[in-house]
Amino acid sequence: MRAALVFAAARATGRPGNDPLVSAGATAVEMLHTLALLHDDVMDGDDLRRGRPAAWRVFGPEAVEAAVRHLTPHAVGLLFDVAVGPDPAPTTGPRDPEVLRGPARAAGVLGAALVRLAQGQALDLALEREPHPDVATTLRVHADKTGSLFSCACELGAAPAAAAELAALGEQLGIAFQIVDDVLGIWGDPGVTGKSAGSDLAARKKSYPVAVALAPTTASDSAAEDARRRLTRLYARTWSWTAAETDEARRLLERTGARCVAEAAARRHAGSALETLSRVCPPHEEAGQDLRALAAFVTGRLY
Ligand code: IPE
Ligand code: MG
Ligand code: MG
Repeated sequence: MRAALVFAAARATGRPGNDPLVSAGATAVEMLHTLALLHDDVMDGDDLRRGRPAAWRVFGPEAVEAAVRHLTPHAVGLLFDVAVGPDPAPTTGPRDPEVLRGPARAAGVLGAALVRLAQGQALDLALEREPHPDVATTLRVHADKTGSLFSCACELGAAPAAAAELAALGEQLGIAFQIVDDVLGIWGDPGVTGKSAGSDLAARKKSYPVAVALAPTTASDSAAEDARRRLTRLYARTWSWTAAETDEARRLLERTGARCVAEAAARRHAGSALETLSRVCPPHEEAGQDLRALAAFVTGRLY
């Protein structure tokens, strides 16, 4: 998805797909994403990834953390390979600094995304212990942990004149993606997602539907309000939930209407990404086709 976004952003903004910095950007983004997932499963204590045992379950958390620490700088280094080659021959004279300008700019974009991703991940974990989350804080987590890399992917692919708009588009699409991911983490089929359903709930993640469900409302629907109160009491329990309590949380969440609210929010954010796209590349133009297909894929996962 993220690597594809780099190429799709290039196409939508008229940048040649064979520009070496486009493919290097796609590779770097994919590498960073994979490393983030390896580490994320350690942080979340999740056992299953892409239908297989998570790497830390096979190799141990220390090995995974060491791999992430050592490989992360290589993602940035990949961008500079474009200018100097992966194994540059020693040179005698000074290098032309101009050839480093593109990679250096791209490295700045990638580095900024990495910092935001780490901040988002830290806040995501901190919120597990927050009994009164608000939706705005959850959205900040989503923007930082996922919007960051989507935005970075779109910006790295874009022609310079459209970079800011494509970054904004990626940010919105990333937020939409993460809200959908939250919904699938609660109600998804592990056979399809390759991830366990219920572990976000058991960890008391303040995912989008949970933050919506726990937020005080003035709604007149008494069944929904009753579910919200019972859910709040469940989240106030400080001990680990049993499987029955996790199932109860899922049922109560559904009854509060939070699932529908979350799905509508995901569609709104994806819609906002598409609006930005139509300013850069009119809807009938073929150049925007890949980005439109990727945006449709994000919310299409809900069905
Ligand atoms: C992970 O977020 C986002 C990253 C920055 C790696 P989640 O923890 O919600 O993602 P999944 O559900 O484990 O894939
Ligand atoms: Mg996770
Ligand atoms: Mg996580």
